[in-house]
Amino acid sequence: MNASNQVRMAVINPQAAPDSLEAKQPPVDNGTECYGKEGYFSREYMAREWEQVWTRSWLIAGVASDLAENGDFFVFDIGGESIIVTRTPEGVKAFYNVCTHRGTRLVWDERGNRRVFVCPFHSWSFTNAGELRRITDEETFQPEVIADRPGLTPVACEVFAGIVFINMSGDHAPLREMIGLPPGYLEAYQIDKMRVVRHVRSEWGSNWKVGVEAFYESYHLHAVHPETRGVMGDLNVQYDLYPRGASRMIVPLGQPSPRIHDQQTVNDGLKEMLRDAGINPAGFTGTAADVRRAIQVGKRERADRLGLDYSRFEDGQLSDSWATGLFPNVQIGCHPEAIFLMRFLPHPTDPERFYYDTMTLILPVEDPDYRPPGWMGLPEGTDVSGKVRPATEHYGIEEDARLGPVLSQDSALLPVVQQGMRSRGFKGQLWGEQECRLRHFHVELERRLSGQAG
Ligand code: FES
Ligand SMILES: [Fe+2]
Repeated sequence: MNASNQVRMAVINPQAAPDSLEAKQPPVDNGTECYGKEGYFSREYMAREWEQVWTRSWLIAGVASDLAENGDFFVFDIGGESIIVTRTPEGVKAFYNVCTHRGTRLVWDERGNRRVFVCPFHSWSFTNAGELRRITDEETFQPEVIADRPGLTPVACEVFAGIVFINMSGDHAPLREMIGLPPGYLEAYQIDKMRVVRHVRSEWGSNWKVGVEAFYESYHLHAVHPETRGVMGDLNVQYDLYPRGASRMIVPLGQPSPRIHDQQTVNDGLKEMLRDAGINPAGFTGTAADVRRAIQVGKRERADRLGLDYSRFEDGQLSDSWATGLFPNVQIGCHPEAIFLMRFLPHPTDPERFYYDTMTLILPVEDPDYRPPGWMGLPEGTDVSGKVRPATEHYGIEEDARLGPVLSQDSALLPVVQQGMRSRGFKGQLWGEQECRLRHFHVELERRLSGQAG
């Protein structure tokens, strides 16, 4: 971007030290190109994405807290592939979920604990470290056929910041470099100490990129989610771009949108946020403009009592949402007490569908009065103790995934976007600077599609 068309965008904390994680990142010149729209419908494009992006990128397969014990495993399905991720005495390993005898899918459970996987077809068995353990009627095989004792086919797997990543490529760049975020960014949240309290996978009626794009900007909040106007500073959002397609937006919570006139009244939404931070709104004497700060102070005051350590977090991290995007298909809503991990997973065959997979992870807190913030949208009665790992809830395209009103609004809107983009009257997306993360994502996507991976 040249100096003449620099657009002024919000900065959360102008006093932030340049090396702090809160600091506004230097601008990135991603140009002004309008990309074509075929990538949202074309099966040929979908196949190219599979070969160049999905099979060559580090992907979040799950979280380490789901693999606490030796033998714990979960299955990660992506496109047409299925991958077993399991804890062995030598650490976390991943394998294609396929029997080496005749290709049968080996494991059908989503997660569990097993030291041995037995194939449902002819009961060959494999250890969870991937070794072939037993061939049924082995004496009936010519020795040459089974000479190399065909164990499970490994997939590169690494655990970083409590998150399990896999990479299907045999020739991949180092994970840490590919994440693109500064050192300490994700690690600060201690995701390994958090526990999954809800996991939902719902099918949505658009290309996966329409999903990523909708969650990478706060430009649509006023129109699609008008109820957020009382509590989210949608025009005060700081957008930051990092290497490798990573990006972040800091959405200030606990303040009214600058789009609304009333900046004084402590509305019901703000009262709720005060309560969530342990502050009785009845005794609160400030105005709406003071709520965000009060949340920060209130949370620090009760930190010791709740056993929450905020010492490594900026004040803004206590109140705001640091929505952090990892290329290609992830956004993590980062909060010191909890994260909301969303993955946009491509449909195996239909470019106009995707799976929206969300996991809510919470740092367990023993205090009986403590509750996770209401805006996280956990249904009434959700067990937030972290003691029981709930099963994944699956919802079809027409079903209500009970994701709360905001996400239901998104899921209703995305097919409308997808449908409109098909029109002969639509040429391609035109992005403003509130959508700079979308452009950043597409620049990286083009780079990968053209074979410049890693
Ligand atoms: S296909 Fe697995 S044992 Fe035959
Ligand atoms: Fe939305």
